[in-house]
Amino acid sequence: MMKQLTWNQKFDCGINEINQQHEEIFFLINQLIAKEQVREQVQEQEKELLIKSEINQLLQLILEKLVRHFNYEENLFISFKFPQSKIHQEIHNLFMDMVRDFIHDYIALGPNEPPIIPINQFIDYLSKWFIEHIIGPDKEYAQFISKASQV
Ligand SMILES: [Fe+2]
Ligand SMILES: [Fe+2]
Repeated sequence: MMKQLTWNQKFDCGINEINQQHEEIFFLINQLIAKEQVREQVQEQEKELLIKSEINQLLQLILEKLVRHFNYEENLFISFKFPQSKIHQEIHNLFMDMVRDFIHDYIALGPNEPPIIPINQFIDYLSKWFIEHIIGPDKEYAQFISKASQV
């Protein structure tokens, strides 16, 4: 059973713009979870197809938001000469390769074709990765930048 993500204090990294972007992605992941739950309940195939196309749109949107968000962070690294920027960027890239592959494959599926990885599993991975990434590497660079901008 997929759980909705709830924003709390421990995700606050001290940079408003970054918090907003993270929250926006939380919101989209939650919409995806809710839609997938509806899809699983639906009986008629016609309705299911409609919901699947909404899921496709959401996945596309999540992909775009993630790309934009990671670019935004990586530009901050350049502006503030963040020393661990290379490794952080590499973490983004590895994650995006997986996300992009799944989403492209999922969107290309025919109406009765099951995805190679169940979408539940993908959403679970996406949620966990995102949360852990915020608490770990994102808070690290945010702390560096906050300090640097005080001087
Ligand atoms: Fe982030
Ligand atoms: Fe990041």
